[in-house]
Amino acid sequence: MSGLADVTLRPERSDDAQTIRILTEEAFRPKAFSDGTEGALIDALRTASALTLSTVATEHGEIVGHVAFSPAAVGALPGWFALGPIAVRADRQGHGIGSQLIQDGLAHLQRDGAQGCVLAGDPNYYSRFGFVNTPALTYQGEQSRFIQVLRFAGPDPVGEVRFHPAFSG
Ligand SMILES: CC(C)(COP(=O)(O)OP(=O)(O)OC[C@H]1O[C@@H](n2cnc3c(N)ncnc32)[C@H](O)[C@@H]1OP(=O)(O)O)[C@@H](O)C(=O)NCCC(=O)NCCS
Repeated sequence: MSGLADVTLRPERSDDAQTIRILTEEAFRPKAFSDGTEGALIDALRTASALTLSTVATEHGEIVGHVAFSPAAVGALPGWFALGPIAVRADRQGHGIGSQLIQDGLAHLQRDGAQGCVLAGDPNYYSRFGFVNTPALTYQGEQSRFIQVLRFAGPDPVGEVRFHPAFSG
């Protein structure tokens, strides 16, 4: 199940919510781009039944990482999903756990027939998974180099990217 010796990935369970929120808040806290809402966003997506995938990475039974995927709109195209938030506990970063969560989630989406995945994040990190920026997309009416897409199938993505309303709440 895992490419890393002691890391196991599994879907979140109902009693994981608080651990996921705290882990996410703490991982984002030092980041200049964080607005401090990433932990609450996961709860809001869950409440809205919009957590398409919510996967935890565990080591020795302890949660050390998490990724969320939710439905997104890319132009008028069906079947697109957003990646994020993603967080790995600070003391476990840089060991491939984030990569594993992303690759596993993308494989799940693709298997389930998704057309693609979109995210807002640092291109230096996400390009390694095949995410690209394209001038054919806008976000809040403007082009942004942080908006990146990975197309699995269907037409090239064109138009305005919209994340689930929980992202702006
Ligand atoms: C981003 C994050 C989830 C990556 O998880 P991870 O388990 O540390 O990632 P991996 O071990 O798979 O990959 C580590 C690599 O990513 C790079 N990396 C991590 N965050 C990066 C970023 N924001 N920009 C560019 N590179 C980044 C590391 O430098 C490292 O590079 P290397 O493989 O060339 O040495 C984790 O660092 C984290 O929780 N950060 C705080 C929250 C956050 O920024 N989330 C993403 C917001 S878009």
